[in-house]
Amino acid sequence: MIYLNGQFMPIDKACVSVLDRGFIFGDGVYEVIPVYSRKPFRLTEHLDRLQHSLDGIRLKNPHTNEEWRQLLTQIIGNNEGEDQSVYLHITRGVAKRDHAFPHVPPTVFIMSNPLMPPAPELLENGVTAITASDNRWVRCDIKAISLLPNVLLRQLAVDEHAAETILIRDGYLTEGSASNIFVVKNQVLLAPPKSHLMLPGITYDVTLELAAEQAIAHKVREVSEDELCTAEEIMLTSSTREIMAVTHLNGAAVGNGKPGPKFRQLHQLYQQYKATHMRGEVS
Ligand code: PDD
Repeated sequence: MIYLNGQFMPIDKACVSVLDRGFIFGDGVYEVIPVYSRKPFRLTEHLDRLQHSLDGIRLKNPHTNEEWRQLLTQIIGNNEGEDQSVYLHITRGVAKRDHAFPHVPPTVFIMSNPLMPPAPELLENGVTAITASDNRWVRCDIKAISLLPNVLLRQLAVDEHAAETILIRDGYLTEGSASNIFVVKNQVLLAPPKSHLMLPGITYDVTLELAAEQAIAHKVREVSEDELCTAEEIMLTSSTREIMAVTHLNGAAVGNGKPGPKFRQLHQLYQQYKATHMRGEVS
């Protein structure tokens, strides 16, 4: 069951006009919210980021946070599985094709898919990644539905049988095509600072919070391409992939080519955090 403009319906009954500005211009924003034990993870933070994206494209938020909470509760209840990935999408609505903003209601769409944790062998062995030049626009802090550059960049990885493309702008790490990236250098966890050149990841925030709580040495600062390519460990984070180790970069082993100690520690802390905060288990 999906939600579209005020109604719940099966996905195959949902229709959007070909004049929708999402279809014509990619004129909209979205969120992906993980759900554990039928509870949305960090919902306030996701809704705050949605507001930031809407402000960034000058589109009024069609709902209050309380209304979003109720819609999400209904979507989660109407879909199977304790763990889900909720996709929420707002476009500037349906209007005759003209670049200027129309005065029409936005299109609001929400769907949910089962949320699968990364396969055990990927956690055990890590994944491979490649690097590419970050050729996206300079408002990567907006979670825009116009994802053509990300799609093309991600496909470069798929073509090389890799899991992610790590992006470099002006000699510095920004993020992955659909993830944030951390590196370990001299045993310090390094994360690029939030800016208009990367998406402020919710999983990125959780990872840094866990590092701070557990006194894991960490620093938020620019990471050069050279530091990335000679890192002891590389990790990617996202709502759908949680934390994963990148063990090969551009065909070369990262460290000894196995997930490193900082990854193992952070991955375990992340699972514990989920267990205590989302599953109601006492750790
Ligand atoms: N993408 N950077 C980019 C470009 C992303 O697309 C994503 C997530 C992230 C990680 O953000 P978060 O931790 O809040 O999920 C960083 C989602 C999952 C997607 O587009 O499917």
